Amino acid sequence: MSESSPASMEAIVSLCKRRGFIFQGSEIYGGLNGFWDYGPLGCELKRNIREAWWRAVVQRRDDVVGLDSAIIMHPRVWEASGHVEGFTDPMVDCRCCRRRFRADQVCEEQGLKLERGLDGRTLKLPAGVRCPACGAAELTEPRSFNLMFKTFVGPVEDSSAVTYLRPETAQGIFANFDNVLSTSRVKIPFGIAQIGKAFRNEINPRNFTFRSREFEQMELEFFIRPGTDAEWHEYWVAERLKWYASIGLPEGRLHRYVYGPDELAHYASACVDITYEFPFGTQELEGIAARGAFDLGRHQEFSGKPLQYFDPETRERFVPHVVEPSAGVDRIALALLCEAYREEWVPTADVPGEPRPAEPGQPLPEGYEARTVLRFAPCIAPVKAAVFPLLKNKPALVARARELYESLRERWPVFYDLQGAIGRRYRRQDEIGTPIGITVDFQTLEDDTVTLRDRDTMQQIRVPAAEVADRIAAAIR
Ligand code: GAP
Repeated sequence: MSESSPASMEAIVSLCKRRGFIFQGSEIYGGLNGFWDYGPLGCELKRNIREAWWRAVVQRRDDVVGLDSAIIMHPRVWEASGHVEGFTDPMVDCRCCRRRFRADQVCEEQGLKLERGLDGRTLKLPAGVRCPACGAAELTEPRSFNLMFKTFVGPVEDSSAVTYLRPETAQGIFANFDNVLSTSRVKIPFGIAQIGKAFRNEINPRNFTFRSREFEQMELEFFIRPGTDAEWHEYWVAERLKWYASIGLPEGRLHRYVYGPDELAHYASACVDITYEFPFGTQELEGIAARGAFDLGRHQEFSGKPLQYFDPETRERFVPHVVEPSAGVDRIALALLCEAYREEWVPTADVPGEPRPAEPGQPLPEGYEARTVLRFAPCIAPVKAAVFPLLKNKPALVARARELYESLRERWPVFYDLQGAIGRRYRRQDEIGTPIGITVDFQTLEDDTVTLRDRDTMQQIRVPAAEVADRIAAAIR
């Protein structure tokens, strides 16, 4: 967000709907809580996030390969992974208003902590906790609620046919460890990366897409020699922070949350969350965990198949340890939208002039108008450039603009717009974050130059039309 005009979530949600980034899932039937649909611009944004991640984590490296495993897996996978037994959240109901909440969140919001019962396992509400909706001190004791969506495979809906929609993509990687090892020429240390949907029946989906019931993960399992866990963990935290900077999330609003020894799972030696300052608080984008040999060890035990690495040099055979950077596409998309969103005042005439941050509640200065702009990094912007013929009733202008547009769209998502005054066309592109506006005018017909307008500074320069593609490529790089 800009320093001077903090964006409200309301404004961002409204822009997302108005311009076709994100819609409520099943909206025409009244919506379905926790599910979101990405419109024409939202799906381009997500595609850019996925592609940037894949380039950095797989394509530009020698030591990581990709995978695309099935969403539905054998139910034993989820027993081995610990999800059947332990992938639960504590749920409470309000006896008064009948609403349902996550007990740990309710307590945290009220500055309290969930307590453990005498057996050390059951959870108890602390005294004084109230319903966050109606304020009554009428909450039930917490009950464990498994977050996995259950379904049946095949026509018979009995217990032997039960399986689950995957709550994370990681298990597909562990289950294919040996397939990948024996078919690609990977040598330890090496990673397997996967992008795909995951499903969690969250008790309380909230903060727009931040906590949804269907979402997308980008996960890397990086297999290492036991004993090198700390150095690889540090390496991946640093790599991932660099990546966030490269897509336009500045260091200043990213943080690391380092897990204390009492917060770590028993098998993990380190865990760091990368968090971002959302308008609704600083929250997790990605978790990076050093998980030891837990996952492969469990699948080895449950499947009865050895999941080991044989080192031809040392002649050792061992179960590799793993470092797991696990990020959410939807959360990154939301962070990018929050980061890019600005309300500004800009000079009315489309002559060069500096935009300035809007001052809410103050009257617009003379000669200025308000604009909303998404200052996406060009590599992330859903549309890279827009081509405008200056006037729509001049066939020669329209034809040259159309020709330029058709050549550019071979390489990138590009818009073509001939409706309305040129200033209004710029505004429409500003609002969806298109970094470059290209105007074809009468001078173009004489010397084949066009004007390029920069979204952020609104500066315009004249360049030969033949240079436009190179300039877009340079901006995206
Ligand atoms: N395999 C490890 C794992 O799944 P996680 O912290 O539960 O770890 C990883 O999830 C990432 O997936 C999170 O950092 C977040 O970006 C995303 N994520 C998890 N639950 C989500 C939800 N309900 N809605 C949106 N994104 C979610």
